[in-house]
Amino acid sequence: MGSEKKAAPKALVAGNWKMNGLKTSGAELAALAGQLKDMADLPCDVLICPPATLLAHFSEAALGSPIQTGAQDCHPEDSGAHTGDISAEMIKDAGAEYVIVGHSERRTDHGETDAVVKAKAEAARRARLTAIICIGETEAERDAGKTLEILTGQLEGSLPEGAKAANTVIAYEPVWAIGTGRTPTTEQVAEVHAHIRARLEKALGAEEGAKVRILYGGSVKPANAAELMAVPHVNGALVGGASLKAADFFGIISAYL
Ligand code: PGA
Repeated sequence: MGSEKKAAPKALVAGNWKMNGLKTSGAELAALAGQLKDMADLPCDVLICPPATLLAHFSEAALGSPIQTGAQDCHPEDSGAHTGDISAEMIKDAGAEYVIVGHSERRTDHGETDAVVKAKAEAARRARLTAIICIGETEAERDAGKTLEILTGQLEGSLPEGAKAANTVIAYEPVWAIGTGRTPTTEQVAEVHAHIRARLEKALGAEEGAKVRILYGGSVKPANAAELMAVPHVNGALVGGASLKAADFFGIISAYL
């Protein structure tokens, strides 16, 4: 654990607002920016991924604060006849630095396969965005003892060729923990994150694989953030519900300060 901690990459605390937020929600962004205002050299990166309608507005409003912005999805192609979709280049143009790809809600609601997720991560790289690639097992898969096998398949299927720590983040989000208030035990999180780290080192080489940030997501709250962040190879959090209110999200960020 000692050497792991020494080499640990800078943590990332990311908020995924999902389909929540209107123009008035800028007040939450402003409140969070206010809380982070006097904190020079934050030991973690802070990210908010609002809905696409607010992305440009939030990116502009966050300028001068440590808060970065990201989108929740992108199309695998750079442009074209894809009504309703948004390209990685458009996200970059809106002022964002990150895009979430392969969230379990996209995999379920839109039938996204690992190949689609990989193509989206490649589109993100072309646009010079960092892709947060989400993977996670269902409860039935965990009960069947298939967690590590499922995660290996998702990781290897979704990770683009030549992925680098600078443009890739992995988020482990057990599907059964998202929005349920349930979380895995710290032992279960430790087992999965060590497994993901080993697979990343195999896929990208030991040095690069050690630098990729691996986030935990699924019912992270101020009350459990510190316990989860203390688990080896947990390099941050992907937060849904508790990222919508500045006070709650700051409570989670505080675990990393
Ligand atoms: P949750 O969502 O924090 O509301 O469980 C996490 C996520 O889906 O990213």
